[in-house]
Amino acid sequence: MPARPTVDSVTVRVPAKINLYLAVGPLRPDGFHDLTTVFHAVGLYDEITVTRADALNVRVEGESAADVPTDETNLAHRAVTAMGKLSGRDISLDVLIRKGIPVAGGCAGGSADAAAALVACDELWGLGLSRQELADVAIGLGSDVPFCLHGGTALGRGRGELLTPVLGAGHYWWVLALVEGGLSTPEVFAELDRRRETGPHLMESDTSTVLSALRQGSGPALGRALSNDLQAPAMGLRPELRGLLQIGAELGALGGVVSGSGPTLAFLVKDEPHAARVASALTQDPACRVARVAEGPVPGARVVRAA
Ligand code: C5P
Repeated sequence: MPARPTVDSVTVRVPAKINLYLAVGPLRPDGFHDLTTVFHAVGLYDEITVTRADALNVRVEGESAADVPTDETNLAHRAVTAMGKLSGRDISLDVLIRKGIPVAGGCAGGSADAAAALVACDELWGLGLSRQELADVAIGLGSDVPFCLHGGTALGRGRGELLTPVLGAGHYWWVLALVEGGLSTPEVFAELDRRRETGPHLMESDTSTVLSALRQGSGPALGRALSNDLQAPAMGLRPELRGLLQIGAELGALGGVVSGSGPTLAFLVKDEPHAARVASALTQDPACRVARVAEGPVPGARVVRAA
């Protein structure tokens, strides 16, 4: 067999995620909550390029790049370190992250970068790890990282790492409304716990409606089934989200929901022209920093260039 040519640089593209359904269980002793969620990967992307260098160095370009840390708290940095430990390879790499996914927006931007870095190291070093081996490293980095590898639409349980693909006929158009500033995921979970001490208690999760909508590939049924236990606490922390949800509803969006722990909002719309109308109306509102149109589902982290 001919020797594998040496690769010096690998670029991986990785999508954002939204949660079509998110039921949060009680707080566990390890500080996490058990989840029942339906993840959906949408076509807003980060691109990570990993190149052999003299030392491990992370750089970030693009929207809100200044808000992303480049030290060892960066999830891509942690992913490279974890892959180095696993494989014994030299982690002297330049890691360039080009952001297209909102930062701290509830769209798994940091987790996506970690997933992309795992795939990039595997390709650069020719490790040939299986998806399951990569997923085992991924969960050590964050609850959403396994899904960012997986992509498509998937049911998530546990912390979110126990994934089952959801087969569906549909292809959907989304408008993502980004607002100024982010939300801290632990703070939104903590706000939910506080509300449950005094207000409505934990509900049984029931995914039958959302899964049936996905099986049928029905936009209107999916729009009605969108649901997120973190929506009320996120809106409590960011009241301006309420007005934006109202704008989407007035413009005929099939549904609107806070993405993950927010503050990004995801609106399901009928088609591309409808997406353009909803996006344009949302951006007229001062609370909306920018609106992006994206299709879903799309595949997870994939190599797009190796040189
Ligand atoms: O796993 P990840 O680092 O993304 O989680 C960030 C924080 O979000 C956790 O420290 C925890 O406070 C909260 N979280 C949770 N239950 C989950 C996932 C995240 O409470 N299943």
